[in-house]
Amino acid sequence: MDVAALAYVVVKAQDPASWSSFGEAMLGMSAHPAGSGIALRMDERAGRVFVERGENDCYFASGWELRSAAEFEAAKDRLRTHGVAFHAASEAELALRHVFDMVWFRDPSGNRHELSYGYRTGFERFVSPAGVPGFVTGDLGLGHMVLPAPQIDATRAFMMDVLGFGLSDILVHRPAPGIEQRIDFMHCGNGRHHSLALFEGEVPSGCVHLMFEVGSLDEVGRAYDRMLAQGVRLMATLGKHTNDHMTSFYFMSPGGFAIEYGFGGRTIDWDHHTVFESTSVSLWGHDFSVGFGADEQAALADAA
Ligand SMILES: [Fe+2]
Repeated sequence: MDVAALAYVVVKAQDPASWSSFGEAMLGMSAHPAGSGIALRMDERAGRVFVERGENDCYFASGWELRSAAEFEAAKDRLRTHGVAFHAASEAELALRHVFDMVWFRDPSGNRHELSYGYRTGFERFVSPAGVPGFVTGDLGLGHMVLPAPQIDATRAFMMDVLGFGLSDILVHRPAPGIEQRIDFMHCGNGRHHSLALFEGEVPSGCVHLMFEVGSLDEVGRAYDRMLAQGVRLMATLGKHTNDHMTSFYFMSPGGFAIEYGFGGRTIDWDHHTVFESTSVSLWGHDFSVGFGADEQAALADAA
């Protein structure tokens, strides 16, 4: 199985309208009614972020794309071979995600993954309400996300052995003396440095962060201005990551997880890549103490 790319993500919201205004005014995507929720467009596809009405504000599912019906059938065979219980999408789910077919299942840490093939769209030109010229998507997929993986070894093995992901590199997060949490960065069948990362810990919102990539530093800076103007909470200052070279900053979303907004992520030739461990998160910047760090301090205080 060769997962081609991250095609879409699904989030749940008590009030999908909160994502409509955030998606347009902060992210620069265009919002469109979709069932009980909304679809956020960031390119020619009918939606890349699907917001469904739910009882909680949270991340819900990661939508991985296969290239053909044959690969879709082969993927289902592989799930069966590995004894993974999977579920066929309902007609309503297929309509909302704008795909030909889809199955979903959970990884060993409980994250919901959806495998699909074929997409439907009118190919209307993407017009950003915030004037964003475009997002880096296409063959690289919509971006990346970091998912909670308390069972990180089993979850990594699942992503590699069942879904065919590869390991890009690792990082060990040390939020306090004596506490170590690994982050495994993983790629699928395209050059994006990572489409998925696994974080060794619990995250109530179901996601650590979701990354969207724009084409220039100016577009990152303009998003920073929009964050300040709209009173959106900063989660990490501007910085450049050691592993994927993304220059980015982080802010809070209505889903209770952070958004990374960046540019300049590098693409990798996987035939000439060697796995490594980064001993620092960033080449410069990315002060996580302003947002994530504050949450961690509160959590440590609660636990004490
Ligand atoms: Fe990221």
